Amino acid sequence: MPLRRRWAALLLGVAVVLAVAAAGARAQDYNNGGGGDGEDEEEEEKPSFKAQEACNGAFLTYTFTEREKEYPRTKNATAQAFAFKATATVLNTMTEDLKAWQMFVGFQHKEILVTVGGAVLLDGTDLPANVSGGVTFAGYPMANLLNSIETAGDLTQIQAQIDITGTQFGVKPPTAPMPRTIKLSNPGFRCPKPTHKQSVMYVCCVKDPKFKAKKVNTTTRYLPRQKADLTIAYDVLQAFGNNYMVQVTIDNWSPIGRLDNWNLTWEWKRGEFIYKMRGAYTLNKEGPACVYSPAAGYYKDFDFTPAYSCEKRPIVVDLPPEREKDKDVGNIPFCCKNGTLLPPTMDESKSRAVFQMQVFKLPPDLNRTALYPPQNWKIIGKLNPQYACRQPVRVSPVVFPDQTGLMSSTPAVASWQVACNITRPKRRAAKCCVSFSAYYDDSVVPCNTCACGCGGGGGGGNDTATCDADARATPLPPEALLIPFDNRTAKARAWAKIKHRRVPNPMPCGDNCGLSVNWHIMNNYKSGWAARITIFNWQDYTFKDWFAAVTMRDHYSGYENVYSFNGTKMGAPFNNSIFMQGLPGLTYLEPITDGRTPEDPRVPGKQQSVISFSRKDAPNVNIAKGEGFPKRLYFDGEECALPDTIPKPSSAHRRAAAAASLGQIVMAVVLVMVVAVVDSLCL
Ligand SMILES: *[C@@H]1O[C@H](CO)[C@@H](O)[C@H](O)[C@H]1NC(C)=O
Ligand SMILES: *[C@@H]1O[C@H](CO)[C@@H](O)[C@H](O)[C@H]1NC(C)=O
Ligand SMILES: *[C@@H]1O[C@H](CO)[C@@H](O)[C@H](O)[C@H]1NC(C)=O
Ligand SMILES: *[C@@H]1O[C@H](CO)[C@@H](O)[C@H](O)[C@H]1NC(C)=O
Ligand SMILES: *[C@@H]1O[C@H](CO)[C@@H](O)[C@H](O)[C@H]1NC(C)=O
Ligand SMILES: *[C@@H]1O[C@H](CO)[C@@H](O)[C@H](O)[C@H]1NC(C)=O
Ligand SMILES: *[C@@H]1O[C@H](CO)[C@@H](O)[C@H](O)[C@H]1NC(C)=O
Ligand SMILES: *[C@@H]1O[C@H](CO)[C@@H](O)[C@H](O)[C@H]1NC(C)=O
Ligand SMILES: *[C@@H]1O[C@H](CO)[C@@H](O)[C@H](O)[C@H]1NC(C)=O
Ligand SMILES: *[C@@H]1O[C@H](CO)[C@@H](O)[C@H](O)[C@H]1NC(C)=O
Ligand SMILES: *[C@@H]1O[C@H](CO)[C@@H](O)[C@H](O)[C@H]1NC(C)=O
Repeated sequence: MPLRRRWAALLLGVAVVLAVAAAGARAQDYNNGGGGDGEDEEEEEKPSFKAQEACNGAFLTYTFTEREKEYPRTKNATAQAFAFKATATVLNTMTEDLKAWQMFVGFQHKEILVTVGGAVLLDGTDLPANVSGGVTFAGYPMANLLNSIETAGDLTQIQAQIDITGTQFGVKPPTAPMPRTIKLSNPGFRCPKPTHKQSVMYVCCVKDPKFKAKKVNTTTRYLPRQKADLTIAYDVLQAFGNNYMVQVTIDNWSPIGRLDNWNLTWEWKRGEFIYKMRGAYTLNKEGPACVYSPAAGYYKDFDFTPAYSCEKRPIVVDLPPEREKDKDVGNIPFCCKNGTLLPPTMDESKSRAVFQMQVFKLPPDLNRTALYPPQNWKIIGKLNPQYACRQPVRVSPVVFPDQTGLMSSTPAVASWQVACNITRPKRRAAKCCVSFSAYYDDSVVPCNTCACGCGGGGGGGNDTATCDADARATPLPPEALLIPFDNRTAKARAWAKIKHRRVPNPMPCGDNCGLSVNWHIMNNYKSGWAARITIFNWQDYTFKDWFAAVTMRDHYSGYENVYSFNGTKMGAPFNNSIFMQGLPGLTYLEPITDGRTPEDPRVPGKQQSVISFSRKDAPNVNIAKGEGFPKRLYFDGEECALPDTIPKPSSAHRRAAAAASLGQIVMAVVLVMVVAVVDSLCL
């Protein structure tokens, strides 16, 4: 009986696939959808066929084809791994094109995708990819599906097929392990719940009439350019039979986004190689090694020696400023900044990077018009935010003004855009952290244990053998913040003794952050209050043109001034935020240095300032109750980990706020600054 059922399921699957294909391929169809390989299936296949016939939108299917047990074999069905194959299709049944289609498949059996044909993962994840929880596919190489009217119903142009192989867990045969759902993710489409029949799932997604699309320029076939934190333009300037010249432009749009020594990488999907580059270079320049690449099979007598890179995933880095005017490798506007991209609000000329390259193609793309951008873009920097990049989307060709000053302009051959957004770091994956202290508590709340990771990765140390990665960080005396974590243990123990606290054994691990910030609430008067910010650099790295941003809660409206930094209020979406950068001459954050004598601990690089708030606009903020701490803090665009707790207001210090004038606060502030400058050990 089970065998029969399995056969039935398989036949049904085949029948529906045939039906779908046949229905699309044949306009005149007399027998309700071809297939018809058995009587018991006929009833089942009709709805699918009917659904497709009645669909005016995008018709999506997902068909589970087969699977096989993988090693190791286990008796536990839920732990058993299976190799599986499936296909998904997207068919455009509208009268207009479906541009840059995106299909979501809600996998639910801990699927790991190993190969994907006809599509790429929208978020650019490398394969094999853990897609438990679902994944969105984007079309590659066929990103747009044309309409039947302009193609005379040519299925190869109106339908995309995704071939999937991977591994999944659980679900005893013969039940088909199906995804939770499938849907079209393009904005402006509505998908009902998909219909699920054993090993087939299908749905017809239709345009949402309520969707307010931005004014689409109907004279172009392209999608509008996206707004994102960082965009990369891929503009083909010249196209030849077997190669093309392309200009890559990286633009930073985020007021807190930043990159230093950026590394840009992508994946060539069609065997291309980079012959020449200007304005940037590939980290591995291994032209001679190209003779081992697939390109060498086609370009038999080609001299690969001067080629830049034949790697499938080249790493591209910026040129140093010295090469800016170099006729061979530089000489491109906006090039050669040593990989630094600043927020446009700081310096617009430093928020863009440009390079050009000559790309050679392989058959079957030996046609001027056969242009495909590389996929799976990634960009990283040193202590910078993490960016997640989407796949390239074809946009209208960019128009370059004439270089010689004439009124004419030249459009690019073809343009694509890659949009990248900043992602928030996961717990224990930050690269900087914050400690809190206040005038009303003599203990400092240090950075969280393992705020920047523990035991390898994320810049963390490998010290979990001698410390507890899960213990709460021990409160410290203020002066302990000035020395490296490794040298704080004695101070922490002594402080615990004074405070009659028990120290955990083993001690909690360090924060492992290369940069930390102390937020200290200095005072609290009737008219206003102030906090001192100290930035510590624990690395052998100089931060140039550093900046920080702090997001406050309600008490933001009282913000008055930052005294020795250049502080400015930020606009939406960074409401309630203050942007701070060094004043001219103080734009460097020095690296850690050795102590005065070998017995002294090492000394971090520091920057310090005071920020003041008045009570006029925020009379209800209760500083003495611990309301003076920020909601978020960023350094060089990286979001820093905040402590889990705040200093405890102690009854002894809860005096009535002294009635001081604003002038007095400023006096106090100035005094502190003078002390800070004279001796920055005044924490
Ligand atoms: C089977 O494996 C699953 C997942 O690995 C596990 O949660 C479950 O406890 C195992 N069951 C038995 C009976 O071992
Ligand atoms: C895949 O990711 C899920 C959730 O993120 C996780 O539970 C699972 O262990 C991962 N699987 C593998 C094989 O890493
Ligand atoms: C639409 O695109 C065409 C061609 O790119 C351009 O000439 C025209 O100005 C655009 N119209 C609008 C309203 O943007
Ligand atoms: C990036 O964020 C913007 C604004 O939040 C959003 O409109 C856009 O769709 C996002 N883009 C990507 C690629 O996630
Ligand atoms: C460029 O960056 C490299 C690597 O961080 C550094 O060693 C070098 O000093 C930088 N050059 C300039 C001119 O900033
Ligand atoms: C402070 O920063 C703002 C914005 O970046 C800038 O316009 C202004 O000139 C800076 N002021 C000083 C004194 O550097
Ligand atoms: C190049 O592609 C275009 C459009 O696809 C086609 O019309 C043309 O014949 C092709 N040329 C060659 C030499 O294959
Ligand atoms: C760029 O890549 C190289 C090689 O993988 C690596 O050594 C370097 O640290 C990377 N740079 C950054 C900023 O991650
Ligand atoms: C990290 O610690 C583990 C356990 O003590 C050890 O096996 C491993 O070799 C260490 N790794 C490094 C990179 O030191
Ligand atoms: C940010 O401020 C703008 C302008 O003041 C306002 O329109 C917007 O709603 C605010 N956003 C949030 C999330 O508070
Ligand atoms: C500080 O800690 C480091 C690393 O553990 C150690 O080498 C150094 O001797 C310590 N210095 C002092 C003054 O304790």
